[in-house]
Amino acid sequence: MMDTTLTESASAASRAAADAPRGPDGGAELYRARRERVLAALRAQGGGVALVPTAPEVLRNRDADYPYRHDSYFYYLTGFTEPEALLVLDANAGENQPSSILFCRAKNVERETWEGFRFGPDGAREAFGFDAALPFDDLDTQIPRLIANRPALHYALAASERFDAQVKRWIDAVRAQARGGTTAPAAAYDLIPLLDDMRLIKDAHELDTMRRAGDISALAHVRAMQTCRPGMHEYEIEAELLYTFRKHGAQSPAYGSIVAAGANACVLHYPAGNAVARDGDLILIDAACELNGYAADITRTFPASGRFTSAQRELYDIVLAAQQAAIDATRAGVNFEAPHDAAVRVLAQGLLDTGIIDKTRFASVDDVIAERAYARFYMHRTGHWLGMDVHDVGDYRERGTPGAQADAPPPWRTLRAGMTLTIEPGLYVRAAEDVPERYWDIGIRIEDDAIVTETGCELITRGVPVHADEIEALMQDARRGA
Ligand code: GLY
Ligand code: MN
Ligand code: MN
Repeated sequence: MMDTTLTESASAASRAAADAPRGPDGGAELYRARRERVLAALRAQGGGVALVPTAPEVLRNRDADYPYRHDSYFYYLTGFTEPEALLVLDANAGENQPSSILFCRAKNVERETWEGFRFGPDGAREAFGFDAALPFDDLDTQIPRLIANRPALHYALAASERFDAQVKRWIDAVRAQARGGTTAPAAAYDLIPLLDDMRLIKDAHELDTMRRAGDISALAHVRAMQTCRPGMHEYEIEAELLYTFRKHGAQSPAYGSIVAAGANACVLHYPAGNAVARDGDLILIDAACELNGYAADITRTFPASGRFTSAQRELYDIVLAAQQAAIDATRAGVNFEAPHDAAVRVLAQGLLDTGIIDKTRFASVDDVIAERAYARFYMHRTGHWLGMDVHDVGDYRERGTPGAQADAPPPWRTLRAGMTLTIEPGLYVRAAEDVPERYWDIGIRIEDDAIVTETGCELITRGVPVHADEIEALMQDARRGA
């Protein structure tokens, strides 16, 4: 790294400005309409001011930060990716007052020479369609002014000690003016449930971005299958994934890539490590990119040699059938649990058929399910919401709907068109004396991303083969140089 005491270079700053982004991905109107929805909802709740900060920069060590990633809620409402920014939505603004106000970093030729282009308040207001924009450094003087005489605050309540403390300081500053007749907000509400419900149903722009993230991620898995040879390290295969993400314009992986050879596949969150993929091993890859703020999430499991052994193939086909059952159960109108139940039934039957679960101990697949005997080999759920965050926001159960009994959980959420989720069953068989040896150390997961539709679901990650025969054919073709 260079030392930051060197003097400014105006020409470098203007070059950076020439490459600068022109505005939000998808156009300012998209984000303005989302802000209007929030404002309308706040007005319906009696008004108040919403405060939505972006994420802080995080120091990695000494002068080096972790790669910066904006806050997803903030991005959803602004499309703005610079650090040190905060959105204010004032539901009590009068006709000629701004209701949508951005705080962002001021223009600064010297800092831009080192760190790159900043929109600055004027540029951001124009390019992103805010009613007003102010310098981030003025927050402590401006926010007390903006929240004075407003009935309530709406923000991510108790999500960040740092932000809670900042809000308290702003409220204190308003209270300090009480003798002048100014009143501080009398209530604070959690803004997050409203934003989560909005984020849960993706709009056309989001779905388009997610399809593209899925396509790029699928290409990365294809490349990993094509380049994999026995003797490669897990990290070499990871390198093929990361290369493909960036090569196709994705900004980063959406989460830490899992590349697990052999028995490592039975460790659910195993990161890509130093192990060598041996002939006869399966390799489980759970990796995908983030594109323009949206995640994909794909898992494929394939043989390092290019050919499944018969035991691997048996389990692979059970997991694939379980995934198909879950896919068939995914459509608008069913509950979130339906795909999981469908997958579990197929997996439980497969565990009985293979003798991994002792048939003499269970009268039927229903007993395996009732006693959760499958959970030793399938210990996670079949899916999760997917969106800007890989484990995206949104309740999995109906909020505010009590169960039949007072202490029962509320019912599972009903799927609706435009929701996006993963479908990712697996089987993880560790070596154990009560399990047939041929299945020892086999870990398999198959994960695709789905958009819920009225009649079913659209799989957006099938650019990479999923059937065992197709995976083998792809790998054989690559070895022949086809
Ligand atoms: N990659 C994280 C997950 O599959 O949930
Ligand atoms: Mn997942
Ligand atoms: Mn995954």
